[in-house]
Amino acid sequence: MEPVNQEYTDRINDFKSVVCRFGAKSPDDFIYKNTLFGSWMNIDGVDMKLTVDGANGNWDGNIGVVTTILSSKDVDISNAVAVVCGPPIMMKFATFKLLEFGFSSEQIYLSMEKNMSCGVGKCGHCMLGKYYVCKDGPVFTYDQVKDYPNIWD
Ligand code: FES
Repeated sequence: MEPVNQEYTDRINDFKSVVCRFGAKSPDDFIYKNTLFGSWMNIDGVDMKLTVDGANGNWDGNIGVVTTILSSKDVDISNAVAVVCGPPIMMKFATFKLLEFGFSSEQIYLSMEKNMSCGVGKCGHCMLGKYYVCKDGPVFTYDQVKDYPNIWD
């Protein structure tokens, strides 16, 4: 059994629409792949698209990085938020693409736990400007962190 947070699926009726874009190195590398392929692909109200860097087996989906399956036509940007989670290089280019589409820096939420170590505010390893990511986050809007150096490192 995979430890999947099902908040968005449990609350699907609270949202006008949910657009999910997932990427992985290969079809075997998707996180939560049993749940993803087992049920998330078929939830009413969820627009799900997947992509892989490289295909194997009988993959017939998109090949390319996540930004290749982002489209401004998929969402009503004036009434949306974007949540970005994954490797820093992906988060960087996904964020820039979202800004290009017209999302404001306040509409983009970033999961910034990449440098966390102790997780309890003692080691300072997670510091991002004035924030302890482990205590103040780990999710921040792009607006909160965009002016700090090296946020994608
Ligand atoms: S992870 Fe150690 S202070 Fe945040």
